Amino acid sequence: MTRKLTMDRTLVLIGLMGVGKTTVGRRLARALGLDFRDADEEVERAAGRSVSEIFDDFGEAAFREGERKVIARLLDQPPMVLALGGGAFIDPETRAEVKARATSIWLQADIDTLVNRVSRRDTRPLLRGNDPRGVLERLLETRTPAYAEADIHVDASAGSHQATLDAILRALAAREAEV
Ligand code: S3P
Repeated sequence: MTRKLTMDRTLVLIGLMGVGKTTVGRRLARALGLDFRDADEEVERAAGRSVSEIFDDFGEAAFREGERKVIARLLDQPPMVLALGGGAFIDPETRAEVKARATSIWLQADIDTLVNRVSRRDTRPLLRGNDPRGVLERLLETRTPAYAEADIHVDASAGSHQATLDAILRALAAREAEV
C-alpha cells in the first residue's frame, strides 16, 4: 500500500505539543521515501539558538515571525514530511500557505496522553510554569477550531506511534483513491 502512494505535495503534521508530530513524522517520511524536516529545528538552526533561548532573548512574537518565514521556505521545496511546532498552524498566514500548498494532518490526543508525553522533556517554553495540564487544556480549547481545518484528522491518543502511522497511511490511501 505504502509504495503505491504518490506524494506530489508536502505532508504537514500539526497538533499540540507532545502529540508525537516529530516521531510519527520521521516514520511517515521513512515509509514514503521522503525527506523529513522539523520546523522547530529549522528555526533553531536559522537563529543559532534553541526555541527556549529564542523565547527568552527575543520573545514569542520574534519566534513566531521566524517560524512563519522558515515554514514558507520549506513549503517552496520538493515534497517532504514536515512537522510543525504546535502553534504554527494557528497563525492565519501559515495556515493559509499550508492549506494552499500541502496536505495537512492533525494528530489529536486526549489531555492525559499529552500531559504524560510532555513530561518527558522540559524544553518547551510555554510549559515551563507549574501547570502544564492547565496550559494544554487551554491551548486545546483555543486551537481546536484552527487545527480542525486540517485535511486529515488522526487519533494519536491511545495507540503506539506505529498505529498512528498506519492510520495516516490508510487516510492518505483513501484520499488518493477518491481522486
Ligand atoms: C509551541 C510548540 C513547540 C514550539 C514552541 C511553541 C506551541 O513545538 O514550537 O515551544 O505554541 O505549541 P512542539 O509542538 O513541537 O513541541
